[in-house]
Amino acid sequence: MSEFNRDIGTETASAVPLDRRLPARGGSRTIAVANQKGGVGKTTTAINLATGLAACGQRALVVDLDPQGNASTGLGVSEYETDVYDVLIGGADLSGAVCHTEIPGLDVIPASADLAGAEIELIDLDQRESRLRDVLGPVLGRYDYILIDCPPALGLLTINALVAADSVLVPLQCEYFALEGLTRLMKSIERVRRAYNEDLDIQGIVLTMHDGRNNLCRSVEADVRSYFGDRVYRTVIPRNVRLSEAPSFGKPALVYDLACAGAQAYARLAAEMLRREGASPVGEAAE
Ligand SMILES: Nc1ncnc2c1ncn2[C@@H]1O[C@H](COP(=O)(O)OP(=O)(O)OP(=O)(O)O)[C@@H](O)[C@H]1O
Ligand SMILES: [Mg+2]
Repeated sequence: MSEFNRDIGTETASAVPLDRRLPARGGSRTIAVANQKGGVGKTTTAINLATGLAACGQRALVVDLDPQGNASTGLGVSEYETDVYDVLIGGADLSGAVCHTEIPGLDVIPASADLAGAEIELIDLDQRESRLRDVLGPVLGRYDYILIDCPPALGLLTINALVAADSVLVPLQCEYFALEGLTRLMKSIERVRRAYNEDLDIQGIVLTMHDGRNNLCRSVEADVRSYFGDRVYRTVIPRNVRLSEAPSFGKPALVYDLACAGAQAYARLAAEMLRREGASPVGEAAE
């Protein structure tokens, strides 16, 4: 175990028996990190949860599926020859797009602004909804977890992520209209389930930028928990400035400042996710 894993892979997770995991197509559990609302913490969650999982000894891959490319730069990957656009649209081999990060066990498939064109170009291609699922085939089994960072829209890129995924992880900011947005997302998930991916599961909902002193935040949290029950993670991610600083250094917060409240929360989230998978499917009492 590397020094990094010893430092961060704290609470538990290496003790989770792999054979009790939830179903994972091809040996990898593929999770779409999705919410069509912008700026709710999808990328921050994808980067830091993946880092937390890697720290717990899991092999993790982040697929950056957002033309903003924030997951790529936030993981320190800025120079590469092949990106997710070349793979999805250009027919490039996915293995050639895999970049290692400075975190042992964590790789990323980067995205650049080119990907913005993919929303349009996909429309005329065969199997336009399932291209990501098809191209991910060769790397399934090489990773325990594949996290797909989705763009803030319910367009074809996000649909591709939902079709490729075993489950959806929804970062939710506790604010006015959060529940309306969530209802729309759930309807899209249901449509994808019916048309393309009947096994698509809800991995969970994680409350981000949480501020327990704020009344609105507390009331939205209560509503979300009463409606979605155990699907909402107990771990909440607090609003924490270190989480927003870390990407400008090309580092996950868990590397930039492991002691900060945000990094600690993501380490706990990774542990909670692994504990739940070891104990029972999401949706049932897990702890
Ligand atoms: N818990 C947090 N505390 C403070 N700042 C945060 C937190 N989570 C995310 N941020 C900051 O909020 C902004 C939006 O976060 P992020 O990029 O993760 O959201 P997103 O949902 O991926 O956005 P987009 O929809 O544009 O892809 C970023 O500047 C990020 O650094
Ligand atoms: Mg993002």
